[in-house]
Amino acid sequence: MTASARAIIDLDVTGHHISRHLYGHFAEHLGRCIYDGFWVGEDSTIPNERGIRLDIVEALRALDIPNLRWPGGCFADTYHWRDGIGPRESRPRIANTNWGDVVENNHFGTHEFMDLCDLLGADAYVNGNVGSGTVQEMAEWVEYLTRGDDSPMAQLRRENGRDEPWLVPFWGLGNEAWGCGGNMSAAHYAEEARRYATFCHNHGENRLVRIAAGAHEDDLEWTRVLMKTLMECHGCTLWGSLPYQAVSFHYYSHSGSGANTEEAASFSDAQYYETMAHVADIDRVIRGHIAVMDSYDPHNRVGLVCDEWGTWWSAEEGTNPGFLFQQNTVRDALVAGLHFDIFHRHARRLTMANIAQTVNVLQAMILTDGEQMVLTPTYHVFEMNKGHQDAQQLVAHLLEGPVRGVRGEDLPLVSMSASTKDGKALLSLTHLSADVDCELSIDLRGRGAALTRARVLTGESTTDFNDTDRPGRVAPRPLEARLEGGTLTVTLPPHSFATIELTLA
Ligand code: AHR
Repeated sequence: MTASARAIIDLDVTGHHISRHLYGHFAEHLGRCIYDGFWVGEDSTIPNERGIRLDIVEALRALDIPNLRWPGGCFADTYHWRDGIGPRESRPRIANTNWGDVVENNHFGTHEFMDLCDLLGADAYVNGNVGSGTVQEMAEWVEYLTRGDDSPMAQLRRENGRDEPWLVPFWGLGNEAWGCGGNMSAAHYAEEARRYATFCHNHGENRLVRIAAGAHEDDLEWTRVLMKTLMECHGCTLWGSLPYQAVSFHYYSHSGSGANTEEAASFSDAQYYETMAHVADIDRVIRGHIAVMDSYDPHNRVGLVCDEWGTWWSAEEGTNPGFLFQQNTVRDALVAGLHFDIFHRHARRLTMANIAQTVNVLQAMILTDGEQMVLTPTYHVFEMNKGHQDAQQLVAHLLEGPVRGVRGEDLPLVSMSASTKDGKALLSLTHLSADVDCELSIDLRGRGAALTRARVLTGESTTDFNDTDRPGRVAPRPLEARLEGGTLTVTLPPHSFATIELTLA
């Protein structure tokens, strides 16, 4: 049996700019993300540049990753940056109390992170410590990184081998302040965020987007308090500038029984659809935060940032449960496809998003096993979708398509988004049915178009994944598509993600 769906895309009507930063990443000192992930050390037999693993860098460069968030997560509110500068052999060892309670040697610190960003061609998003740090410590970290003259912190940076200041566009004011970041109330944290932000100065050319640690999922009250406190800042009104320029929220996906409770690569069809319904619900969550922000900030001065998203399954058997190492299947790829459609729709206010996390942790792009490395199905979605970065939205109207009842609600089984850039258009299609094809016909209006390339990512089942035995089991393949008389027709296989690239006349 084949289902059918119909859609319209107006190729001549553009919407909001889709920030490339919606395709951001996150690397925490957690499990094997940094150590035994990005960082192998200069003496490793694994090819590296100054200790940073080169096959990972090369794979991520192919994604055009726009920014990288570091050092946490929860870890950020226990991290004291001075522990991670200077000669590596004399850096203190610290306990990572959040993740596996392991001891780390601080060999990967500020200089190594900025080096990694340079190698990746990514902007730095440094997350400062509000929970157990001080305002002075944070202010001095900003100065150390971004100041060019002979100020004390700039001099200290030079003593550690770096003459020029770095550009650091994004600065996090703590993380999950309602939980691991200090168990604060919204009102208390909002005051703290304002105070910390005031002392994170723009040095020289550097301009910080200061990001207040935001809500857990749909805690709209948290966002309301952050926005109210921001907008009612007396001194800030006088100066005409806001202490923080963005507020964040976090949203992890699972099939409804909570993060960290279900297997990554063994699940029923019911769990699969429930996961997709949970993912689709982020649309409601984002709308809620945006409605609150609109009411305090009608001129869109403050960005909404989803700086942790992705699936959270239970850790693979035989691995340290505190390391959050999970397999990544076709289901995860479709989770990513759905998120991006939703993110694109909210591009007016949603200015950044960071998947958790890039290597070996949660919904990763890359899993490593000693010298070997595997690209996950999620990696391929980021690659196939990269043309949306810094493009203009095109509004895609899905007129009809298959749905499935999940927990009393209709879950649409086809999701799509489209954008245009440089005389081209990119269409993304996520087809969720676990077992039925869908013939999709899209009426392309407003401009002539020629088909450049169509690709599809799928597996034999929703549970398929890549491993070192079969690294290419789930990888993009050519997809047959027809474009005749302005109508694009394509048959989407079950549980698939597809992209269609057009050249516009
Ligand atoms: O990404 C893993 C953890 O999830 C982060 O450290 C924390 O912010 C969140 O709870």
